[in-house]
Amino acid sequence: GTTLRAAAAEKGRYFGAAVATGKLSTSTYTTILNREFNSIVAENEMKWDATEPQQGRFSYTGGDRIVSHAQANGMSVRGHALLWHQQEPGWAQGMSGSALRSAMINHVTQVATHFRGKIYAWDVVNEAFADGGSGGRRDSNLQRTGNDWIEAAFRAARAADPGAKLCYNDYNTDGVNAKSTGVYNMVRDFKSRGVPIDCVGFQSHLGTTIPGDYQANLKRFADLGVEVQITELDVMTGGNQANIFGTVTRSCMAIPQCAGITVWGVRDCDSWRGSDNALLFDCNGNKKPAYDSVLNALNAG
Ligand code: G3I
Repeated sequence: GTTLRAAAAEKGRYFGAAVATGKLSTSTYTTILNREFNSIVAENEMKWDATEPQQGRFSYTGGDRIVSHAQANGMSVRGHALLWHQQEPGWAQGMSGSALRSAMINHVTQVATHFRGKIYAWDVVNEAFADGGSGGRRDSNLQRTGNDWIEAAFRAARAADPGAKLCYNDYNTDGVNAKSTGVYNMVRDFKSRGVPIDCVGFQSHLGTTIPGDYQANLKRFADLGVEVQITELDVMTGGNQANIFGTVTRSCMAIPQCAGITVWGVRDCDSWRGSDNALLFDCNGNKKPAYDSVLNALNAG
């Protein structure tokens, strides 16, 4: 293939980008997006603060715009994210206990129902594990409603949209470490008890190095019987950027259960990482060496 989307599709994978609706009217942006990517995810528009700004009042304008752009351009959609301790709307930040539990389950049900049939995979729960060596859950008002909040969310999402793959998504889980092992143990437990989980997302916000066991980590999750996906890839600029992008892509291609890769933005200037220049296209829309590295790895894989 001569584009990322064509090369990925030839290998039965997708190649995606995070999109901000505000940029869909910028022609350099949409030209690259439509040419290179066959999957998109809303960078912010499907999050809780965007979709339920007031309790029980749902707003789908941005999310619907993402979905229609995808449908018009032959792209699948990743849904991001039904529940996350960040970007909770203000009304939910102040809640706790059974009231919050009901509100969050209602949120999952309403949003997954609205988008039913249009989402390839949902990040049902995002970033619920603690950083550092504990391997345990992150403290949040969601977690304080009871340790079973994650499985309750997955069951509600399955009931609302049985056709969507349901993912757990996190960062700093990109090698074998205490945090990724905590997630691994949860997924293994869910699979053994029949909690509906289909995929694990590895955000892969990377610096100037990549864990040597990146691929082995993907493999151990795949061996649990879930799909794995690279969901928010970006890499700090520097001598290794192209190599690291290539290594991530080769690692995914080496694992049949790795369904695809999403980069967290289109051009460097679209990225939350600012001067890290962490993406595949420069601010003028030119392909960077990292682009060629990814394309070659897709074609070789
Ligand atoms: O929409 C408001 C706008 O009205 C206001 O004027 C402006 C002033 O600050 O803020 C705008 O909201 C910003 C929003 O992005 C949309 O641009 C928020 O301040 C800003 O915090 C928010 O940042 C997003 C961040 O998640 C929030 O935590 C980034 O765009 C987004 O790239 C980032 O994405 C996350 C993933 O969802 C989860 N994994 C990590 C990743 C990077 O942090």
